[in-house]
Amino acid sequence: MFGEVFEEELGRESVFRDASKLSPDYVPPMLVHREEEFRQLTRIFRSVIENKMSQHVLITGSVGVGKTALARRFGEELEPRAKGRGVNLTYLHINCRKDKTPYSVLAKLVQHHNPRWPYHGLGPEKLLDMVVTYLNSHDAYLALILDELDYFVQLNGPDLLYSLTRAAEESGAPNRISIIAIARDKNFLRFLDAATQSTFMHNVLPLDRYTAPQLKDILNQRVGEAFKTGAVEDETVEMIAEIASRWGDARFALELLWRAGMTVDGEGKDMVTPEYVRQAKAEVYPEVKREVLRELQLHEKLALLAIARKLRASKQAYALTEDVEKSYHVVCEEYREEPRAHTQFWEYIKRMEGLGLIDFKPSRSRHRRRSLKVSIQEIPVTWLEKEMEKLLEGRKS
Ligand SMILES: Nc1ncnc2c1ncn2[C@@H]1O[C@H](COP(=O)(O)OP(=O)(O)O)[C@@H](O)[C@H]1O
Ligand SMILES: [Mg+2]
Repeated sequence: MFGEVFEEELGRESVFRDASKLSPDYVPPMLVHREEEFRQLTRIFRSVIENKMSQHVLITGSVGVGKTALARRFGEELEPRAKGRGVNLTYLHINCRKDKTPYSVLAKLVQHHNPRWPYHGLGPEKLLDMVVTYLNSHDAYLALILDELDYFVQLNGPDLLYSLTRAAEESGAPNRISIIAIARDKNFLRFLDAATQSTFMHNVLPLDRYTAPQLKDILNQRVGEAFKTGAVEDETVEMIAEIASRWGDARFALELLWRAGMTVDGEGKDMVTPEYVRQAKAEVYPEVKREVLRELQLHEKLALLAIARKLRASKQAYALTEDVEKSYHVVCEEYREEPRAHTQFWEYIKRMEGLGLIDFKPSRSRHRRRSLKVSIQEIPVTWLEKEMEKLLEGRKS
């Protein structure tokens, strides 16, 4: 019986030509509306290829503006062109939210150069040393993409970045490691020493959120790759572009398109119309967020509930972090949890900003303490409050 089901499903017509072209990991050969940024990267890396000088650059921007795609595309193009000019350069992309300790980042570096190297039990300095020695002895160069680096630095401090940018200093040899850092914004740079800060400050590449017409172009390019000809109505693309332009987020746009297509297939229809976008939007949105919320640690949940309540009660767009922290203490009392110390509380808040759950705005506030305002822009706070209470249910004694 399952055999029949299998055959039936495989025999079914699909609107997709190749749905994998909509996956968030796929990097298209051409990034529309990022030509200028690509050009800037090329200019910066010119001296790596021509003068073998290392360069550091920081790409910033909110979720889905193409930071990862741009850096990876650039790495793909850079490698063969450097080789063609006699420079033995490779690139390596590391997502520092996945490899979140200095050790695992360095282990990736070691493995990249020699997968068979035994590196277990060695300390971070030794690992970096191995890489530098390798680069020197093979006359090789590395373009290292450190993605979501802000998250990493907040977690681990500046030491790894410090050592990477000075990897060759002691030996007197040229630094063979260039870094393409990726972060939501420049704020994390203040955790670095002045010298490292300034090497990045020279080359900051901010990516703006996409406008609706830009998203439309991005979607249209992908429609051609992923769907059969004529399967997606123009109005569908326009509607998705319009929705996603609120955040300027190409990832969200592509996900809506993918989901809409999946539903059309599921219903055995042959045309992706705007109605399927409405459905996709209704599904994706709370689902994606719920998943993120469920995975928060207990005190992150408590802090988020505190923020939601504070914002609901004040009816303001932003709340001062000091006030949020007070509200957090009240919530902890309610759930009979010992509130965490101020610095720990900060870590939670910053992590949630990294996850895109809350937003920061610098504030000229009452105290000189690093002060920020917190906001929740993407989720209705009343909905969030209820969700958090549900997730924390059973915690209250
Ligand atoms: N200019 C663009 N042209 C085509 N696709 C893009 C463009 N910018 C982003 N994308 C696609 O949108 C999705 C999100 O981009 P990504 O680079 O992951 O964003 P970020 O790293 O800034 O969160 C990816 O699937 C990416 O391929
Ligand atoms: Mg990214």
